[in-house]
Amino acid sequence: MTTSHRPLLGVNIDHVATLRQARGVPYPSPLEAALLCEQAGADGITLHLREDRRHIQDADVFEMADKLTTRMNLELAATAEMVDIACKVKPEWVCLVPEKREELTTEGGLDVVAQQSHIAEVIAKLHTAGCKVSLFIDPEPAQIEAANACQADAIELHTGAYAEAGLANDAIKEQQELDRILTAVDFAKSQNSSLIVNAGHGLTRDNVTTIAKIDGIYELNIGHALIADAIFMGLADAVKAMKAAMSQ
Ligand code: PXP
Repeated sequence: MTTSHRPLLGVNIDHVATLRQARGVPYPSPLEAALLCEQAGADGITLHLREDRRHIQDADVFEMADKLTTRMNLELAATAEMVDIACKVKPEWVCLVPEKREELTTEGGLDVVAQQSHIAEVIAKLHTAGCKVSLFIDPEPAQIEAANACQADAIELHTGAYAEAGLANDAIKEQQELDRILTAVDFAKSQNSSLIVNAGHGLTRDNVTTIAKIDGIYELNIGHALIADAIFMGLADAVKAMKAAMSQ
């Protein structure tokens, strides 16, 4: 582990839309929040258009595509409907994620091994539309090999198990999960040195520093804990505090 380069921060803005959808009112605006995050130092904005539209709506995606000043990372399930939307929006990045209607949040990574030809086809379509594609996967060598074989531009390693172990005060499991992530980053780089390695899910100001110190991770995507911090410190300061924790 070295500290030569610290990752960029992509702010996941879904939770602002969750608050709006809870009341069915027009506020708070995810776009306004995203622009504020960018002004406060966010390097990119991530949003997840779920098939059930539980938070981000189609109009949010199109509006943000026009107005963001950094770059959009649009998370989607690899379905025909979502790929069509991405091909219209043409975000700089699309991140393919698994999706189950009953889940609270994205549980587990995309099983690229089990659907390699489908994922390769979706990536080819998105490349034709001019998007770069990231695959949200568990930190497993077989998934990394499959992602690389599908011509993914990036992988995003799922840090949820690491984060959950920390919340459960299980230091042994937390270390094991950290080791899995470290091994996965090295494995990815050994497979293809130009494959971009991102990470995210469940990261907080408390657990992010260790992940941010891993050499080879390009960007961290962080949402829930950052928006939770914003309740107490305001959104701009929450972005700054997360960036500070990432560079400790
Ligand atoms: N990356 C991906 C692919 C995700 O699906 C999510 C959650 O929407 C995140 C990062 C951010 O996770 P969290 O909200 O726990 O920070």
